Amino acid sequence: MSTPPTHHHRIDINPFTLFQTVALQDVPSEIQEDSAESQQVQPQEELQQNYHLLSINSTIVIRQVPSQGISFQLWPAATTLVTLFDLHHHCITTLLSAVSNDGETQHRPIRILELGSGTGVVGIAAAAILGASVTVTDLPHVLPNMQFNVDANAETLKLHGGAVEVAALSWGDTQNMEAIGRVYDVIMGSDVVYHDHLYEPLLETLKFFLLKSETKIVFLMAHLKRWKKESAFFKKAKKFFDVEILHNDEPSNGSRVGVAVYQFAGKFPSRPIINTTGDCKILSTIA
Ligand SMILES: C[S@@+](CC[C@H](N)C(=O)[O-])C[C@H]1O[C@@H](n2cnc3c(N)ncnc32)[C@H](O)[C@@H]1O
Repeated sequence: MSTPPTHHHRIDINPFTLFQTVALQDVPSEIQEDSAESQQVQPQEELQQNYHLLSINSTIVIRQVPSQGISFQLWPAATTLVTLFDLHHHCITTLLSAVSNDGETQHRPIRILELGSGTGVVGIAAAAILGASVTVTDLPHVLPNMQFNVDANAETLKLHGGAVEVAALSWGDTQNMEAIGRVYDVIMGSDVVYHDHLYEPLLETLKFFLLKSETKIVFLMAHLKRWKKESAFFKKAKKFFDVEILHNDEPSNGSRVGVAVYQFAGKFPSRPIINTTGDCKILSTIA
């Protein structure tokens, strides 16, 4: 007789509410990280989310496996970035070209590196919408689901001239970062500031890609503020980067605040940054 599924994981792992309703120390360790145990004993309930992208009139399909943990779910900040790319693709292309490494993006695809991609939705959508060449990254155990999602959208990507590669990048791991290289026009991430033990490795990663590059490069980060302690991350970040808010969503799902999109740029004199004034006032107009 088969063993009935255990229900000890039956707590709220809804990305919209999880971190709003419980303090971190109250969250069982099995969902604080995507534990090997949770991958073995959990029923593998899969959810499919369709994103219809108006700008290219195509739908991308994303598989979530919530029982496997936080890396296998869609997070609110991801939706914000996808929406921004979709509704303002012309402006985004112009703005990213302006901050690109060599000013050559009229002649080649924009090259994007995404950190902590989870399901891969943001990278896949960006590649399809912008015809960009995107590397989506995360911890090794997250990559098979991400690759599944990339493969599931291969035709759409091909149709729109986008390309997505999947690679392991554990924040702060010099070997991983060297292997990935510094050949990107822009770095991005959504909902990557949450556990405080990850602040330092994430900052090390940003320093590697933003400060040690010979060319200008910025980090676009969509973030839903959940805890006061997150101000420690921003305080540390501001020692090395100019941090600017480019866009604020309206609060939703009972939150007091909405998702914000930040730009981090290395503190260098004369470094061009994304300009939200002028014609492309994209980032303050999305609700
Ligand atoms: C809250 S999820 C957000 C996922 C995705 N960006 C989204 O918005 O849907 C945070 C992501 O960061 C990844 N992550 C956590 N620690 C990491 C580390 N040390 N190195 C690389 N990625 C990490 C997790 O695996 C997870 O996919």
